[in-house]
Amino acid sequence: MTAAFPVQDARAKFPALERSAPFAYFDNAAGAQLPQNVLDAVAHHLLEINVQRGGRYAKSRAVDAMIAASREKVAAWINANDPSEVCFGMNATSFIRMVSLAVGQTIAAPRNRIVVTDLDHDANVATWRALERMGVEIVWWRMRDGGTLQVEDLVPLLDSRVRLVACTSVSHALGSLVDIAGVARAAHAVGAEMFVDSVHYGPHALADVQAWDCDYLVCSGYKAFSPHMGFLWGKRDKLIALPTFREEFIPDEPPHKVEAGTFIFENVAGMGAAVDYFEALGRQLGANGDRRAALVAAMDAIQVYEQTLSRAMLDELKTVGATVYGLDDETRRVPTIAFNVEGREPRRVVEAMSDEGFGIRDGHMYAPRLMERLGLSMDRGCMRVSLVHYNTLEEIARFGAALRRVVG
Ligand SMILES: Cc1ncc(COP(=O)(O)O)c(C=O)c1O
Repeated sequence: MTAAFPVQDARAKFPALERSAPFAYFDNAAGAQLPQNVLDAVAHHLLEINVQRGGRYAKSRAVDAMIAASREKVAAWINANDPSEVCFGMNATSFIRMVSLAVGQTIAAPRNRIVVTDLDHDANVATWRALERMGVEIVWWRMRDGGTLQVEDLVPLLDSRVRLVACTSVSHALGSLVDIAGVARAAHAVGAEMFVDSVHYGPHALADVQAWDCDYLVCSGYKAFSPHMGFLWGKRDKLIALPTFREEFIPDEPPHKVEAGTFIFENVAGMGAAVDYFEALGRQLGANGDRRAALVAAMDAIQVYEQTLSRAMLDELKTVGATVYGLDDETRRVPTIAFNVEGREPRRVVEAMSDEGFGIRDGHMYAPRLMERLGLSMDRGCMRVSLVHYNTLEEIARFGAALRRVVG
């Protein structure tokens, strides 16, 4: 199956890769490139139907239809029970903030604890910590030294005082996968809710909100081959109960109560097209059946292929004696790998690697608690390579050779 992954076909669909060659995009965790069909969908929107939604004329109705279609596609991608549970907007951070403010308004002792982790992006930590002034008590679920979150470490933190558990489905810094279904089971067992940050998971594997049985999930389209936008999913009854800000003329039901104001419609068109891209990949791989079946085939193949990328990158990093923070097991991670090279300043290495034609990131990875756990300063931090399915083993070999030149 791995050998069969059509990586060259996939690459051919992303014009930016060819245009920038031989530059290698290795900072995909900060945002991925766009396939041609996504660019076309954005251009089509801007050239043909760039009007406000909700009007009675044809172009405005076409905007409404596009938004509805994108909602259905995203719903299939994450396996939502109903498209109305998918709400579009600016980015993940603003949605986490919106949900946290709503939770803050309704929280009361004795159920006033919120569990956060020291592995998460600070977007899914600071937003919850900001509720401390509303009487919330923060409880820390600590990662293991190996860089993983284990449900058995969460269980002792849970009791009837916990209102919500907020955690990521995969680390944006270390690449480790989290057993989200296990987290949701444990949270629900004490009557708590489960909030998933799926921003980093989107491009790598298939979310399934029904199988996971989480209550809320956020995702950023721009990490998953769409333009800059984000979406929130919530169980319909949870979204109905959520006290959101909305003007009086907006219906008090999802998605409208969450989507107050105008958002970037052309990027919603792009998000729908990103799901089309995955679906087409699934069909190319031989999937029959409905959209979800094709999405399953595509994301499964991506996950398996990306395991070969993880393995190859971990092996290259070993050849330079790099310290890798996180799992050496490619089956429990995605190809997002944080590392340092002893005696080398991360920022200098990243600049030198830029001259070698690689875009990689250095710094604190927006995760102050994680830096502390790894014994790294916020100022210096570490380096991170983050690969997706359009990256290749050839690029990784080239990366290894360049890194050896830079730090050798
Ligand atoms: C895991 C994770 N959560 C949240 C965010 C914030 O996402 P957004 O830029 O959509 O607000 C990021 C961004 O890098 C991220 O990687």
